Formats: sequence, C-alpha cells, structure tokens
Amino acid sequence: MGERGSGLTETARRAAGRPEAATGAKGEAAKIRFQDVTKRFRVREGKEVKEFTAVDGLDLDVRPGEFMAVVGPSGCGKSTLLDLLAGLSRPTSGQILLDGRPVTGPGMDRGIVFQQYALFPWRTAQANIEFGLEAKGIGARERRELARHYLALVGLSGFEGRYPHELSGGMKQRVAIARSLAFDPEVLLMDEPFAALDAQTRESLQAELLRIWEQTGKTILFITHGIDEAVYLGQRVAVMTARPGRIKRIVDIPLGRRSEEEDVRSAAAFGELRHEIWNELREEVRLSQTQAVPSAAGGRAVR
Ligand SMILES: Nc1ncnc2c1ncn2[C@@H]1O[C@H](COP(=O)(O)OP(=O)(O)OP(=O)(O)O)[C@@H](O)[C@H]1O
Ligand SMILES: [Mg+2]
Repeated sequence: MGERGSGLTETARRAAGRPEAATGAKGEAAKIRFQDVTKRFRVREGKEVKEFTAVDGLDLDVRPGEFMAVVGPSGCGKSTLLDLLAGLSRPTSGQILLDGRPVTGPGMDRGIVFQQYALFPWRTAQANIEFGLEAKGIGARERRELARHYLALVGLSGFEGRYPHELSGGMKQRVAIARSLAFDPEVLLMDEPFAALDAQTRESLQAELLRIWEQTGKTILFITHGIDEAVYLGQRVAVMTARPGRIKRIVDIPLGRRSEEEDVRSAAAFGELRHEIWNELREEVRLSQTQAVPSAAGGRAVR
C-alpha cells in the first residue's frame, strides 16, 4: 500500500517539531526503568495456596519527559506495574529504577491516579486536593488557590465543598486527576484515568493533560484500554502481552504536536497507527480470553 508509506513519512517529518523535553537522545539515562521485573501473587484455590505470576521478566524504559502509553488485555498486569512503580508493592524479582535509584516505597516525586478513584471520604473535594499540598508544606492560601484552579480545570467549580459520596463516579475521578496535577510531581502515573468520563470531558482532559505535559516536561506513564487514546496521547505506545505480562512491542507515534493540529484523530497516519496497535493487541486479547483467569482479574474488553 503506497499511501500507507507516504503517510508515515509525512508524520515522521512533522515529528521533528516535537517538544524538546520529549526527544531524549538515544542512550540517555532512563527516567523510569523496569529491569527484568517479575511479580507473583499467592492466591488461594480451595484449600491450596498457589503462586500466580502476573508479570514475568518485564523490561521497559521510559525516557525523561516522555509520554508513554501502555495498552494490554484486561488482567495482563498493567495496574500491577503501576503499583510497583508507585512503591506500593515490591517485585518478586528484578528491580524498578527511578532516576537510576531503586524504588523502595512511595514518594512525593510520583503522583498517582488510580484506576479506581481513591479519595478520602471524610474530606471535601477541595480538602482532598489540599491534602498533598499540605504534605508539601504549601501555605493555606496558596493551597486554596491551587485547589480551586485545578478543580476549575477539570470542570468542577462550585463543587469544592462536596464530599466524595455526593459526587458521581466521573466527578470523583476528576477530583483525583485535579489532585495529582495540583501536586505537580515530576512523574505522573495514571491508570485509566479517563475511562469513567463522558466522551466530551475525556477529550478536553486529554487535551489539557497534553498541554500540561508540553509545558512542564513531566514524565507520564499512562495506562489505557483505549487504542485511540494511546495513539493520541503517547509518544510511544507499549503493547503488553497476555498474562503473564511482558512488553510485546513498543510502537513509535510520530505525530506532531497535538495542540497545533486541526484534528489529529482523523489524519490518515493516526488511523494507520491505530490499526497497527490493534493488530498487535488482538492476538493477546484472544490469548487472554482462553486463559483460566482468576475472578479477581475483572472482565473488561479492549475497545
Ligand atoms: N493482590 C493480588 N493478589 C492476587 N492476584 C492479583 C493481585 N493483584 C492483581 N492480581 C492478579 O494479577 C493479574 C494482573 O492484574 P492487574 O490488576 O495488574 O491487571 P490489569 O492489566 O490492570 O487489568 P485491567 O485492564 O482489567 O485493569 C490479574 O490476573 C489479577 O487477578
Ligand atoms: Mg488495571
């Protein structure tokens, strides 16, 4: 297909205009490195306790300032990776390095948006956002202003005083996103942060996240079920295998700055990249569906 080749060449040329923070030179030290990481869980099966391998010998490097998207079948170990990087659990073997140093626990250098909104139920939306800012030692007035600014950014002005149980699922997730952005960490770990949102809100938050990334040079690891979302946001998309999770392939996304494009999603190159990733993923999804999956794995299909 001649058209296919020329489309990609065109986008490759435009890629030269990408933000500087993102075009890490080859050989540059990784910001995040998963080095031969294996994670096993002990699970009960009747009276027996069995070892269950979620992630097996996984290697992945994320460059400083890179926006890396990760896709993979449900239950392949994506959230497990994020927990490991967040320092909330330890690998069974291998190691996770942040700026060349092993991750030994949670830290203020990483901000996390969990797959399921994790808000303090006894704190209002405003106070939830202020929580991390308090830990950073930011004064009351600035905390209040920052919290209001980021609530407005996610479209929740007027909801400052609401408690989580008074908010919808999507609204809770938006508070969690606002909290992680207000905290302003160097590394942002996001586990399907936009999955629960309506299409319009999702698109505007995607654009906003890109804008923030372009302006701040944060390193972002973004897990998603949406191939479109991965292609739109990522500079590279890591495709994971069916469980036990490994990186199957990393696809470069040589699209220009999204903010300067009219409608990136309808470009021919966008469709080609989408198709390429879909092809890689299809096989893994089929494999994962034939596996005996424990009930804890959840049952979402790839969009
Ligand atoms: N604490 C745990 N104990 C036992 N098994 C676990 C635990 N956490 C995760 N698992 C298992 O590890 C595998 C990977 O889970 P994980 O949550 O990382 O998948 P995922 O790729 O995030 O899936 P999804 O796309 O559905 O969110 C699953 O089979 C799950 O059942
Ligand atoms: Mg998950």
